Amino acid sequence: QDCILVGAPMDSGKRRQGCLMGPDAYRTAGLAEALRGLGHTVTDRGNVAPAPFTPKDHPKIVRLEETIAWTTALADAAEATLKDGLPIFMGGDHALSLGTVLGAMRHAATQDRPLFVLWLDAHTDFHTPHTTDSGNLHGTPLGYVTGRDGFDGFPAVENPLPHENIAIIGLRSVDAAEREAMQGSDITYVDMREIDETGIARPLSTFLDKVTAANGMLHVSLDVDFLDPSVAPAVGTTVPGGATVREGHLVMEMLHDSGLMTSLDLVELNPFLDERGRTATLMVDLAASAMGRRVFDRPTRAF
Ligand code: ARG
Ligand code: MN
Ligand code: MN
Ligand code: MN
Repeated sequence: QDCILVGAPMDSGKRRQGCLMGPDAYRTAGLAEALRGLGHTVTDRGNVAPAPFTPKDHPKIVRLEETIAWTTALADAAEATLKDGLPIFMGGDHALSLGTVLGAMRHAATQDRPLFVLWLDAHTDFHTPHTTDSGNLHGTPLGYVTGRDGFDGFPAVENPLPHENIAIIGLRSVDAAEREAMQGSDITYVDMREIDETGIARPLSTFLDKVTAANGMLHVSLDVDFLDPSVAPAVGTTVPGGATVREGHLVMEMLHDSGLMTSLDLVELNPFLDERGRTATLMVDLAASAMGRRVFDRPTRAF
C-alpha cells in the first residue's frame, strides 16, 4: 500500500501540553521504517499547520479558535491524502479527529461509499461544547461528526455520520452526559466488562462484517489511553484497566486481515510523559500490526 504519514502536532484539545511532540516521537520510534519493512511505500508529508486564527478567551472552552483552525486544516489534509493512499495521522491530541474524520467523510462521499469509524478509546469523546464539563475539545470529536448541536464556528458537517457506522471499543471512563447520549444512540459501544466477558474479537468482527457488507471505508482512531497505563504511560488521561498489549495487537491484526482500513489516527501520545520511548514504540508496533506484521503466515482459524 501507499502509506502517507501526516504529522498533526495539535495540542489545543486539552490543557495539559506535550502532544505537539507526538509526530517527532513516531518518527524517532521508526514508524516509516517499520512500514517499509512490511513492503509498503511510505511518504512522510511533514506536519500540517492550523489555518490562521485569532484566539479569544472563553469562560469554559479551551482554545476554541485554535481547535477550529486545526479542524479546517486537517479536514483538507485528510481529504487530499485519501486520494493518494492510506493516510496515517501522527498526533497530536484527539481533537485532531474533528478534522480527520470530517475529511474522511468528505472523501467517502466522493467515492459514493459509506464511511465507518472504529474508535479505540477509554473515553466516548461524544461531548459537545455545551455538555463538556472539562472544556477540553478532545472529548468532542464523535459529538461533532455525528452532527450534535453546539459546534458553532466549526466547519459545517454536511452529512453527519450515522450512529450505526460507529463502534467504540475499550470504554471505561464515560461522563454522565455522554452516557445518557450514548445509551440513546445507535452507536456500538463496547466497555471493558464486555471485553472481559466475550473477548475483544467478537464485537470487533461483528462490526467489521457490517463494514464489509456495506462496502464501506473505515477510519480507525487509536487513542493511547485505549491501552492500559502500565504498558502505555505516555498519555495525559490514563484510566486503569485498559487493553493489554495482546488485545491491542489482536485488534490491529484483525484490521489488517479485514483489508478494510482506509485511514488511521494515532492520538494522545504525550512524549513528555513517556518512559524511554516505550509508549511511542508500542504505538509503532501496533500500527505495524495493522499494516500486516504478523508472527506466522497462516490461515486464520475460526474461533
Ligand atoms: N470525558 C472527559 C472530558 O470530556 C475526558 C475526555 C478524554 N478524551 C480524550 N480524547 N482523551 O474531559
Ligand atoms: Mn480519545
Ligand atoms: Mn481517551
Ligand atoms: Mn467531560
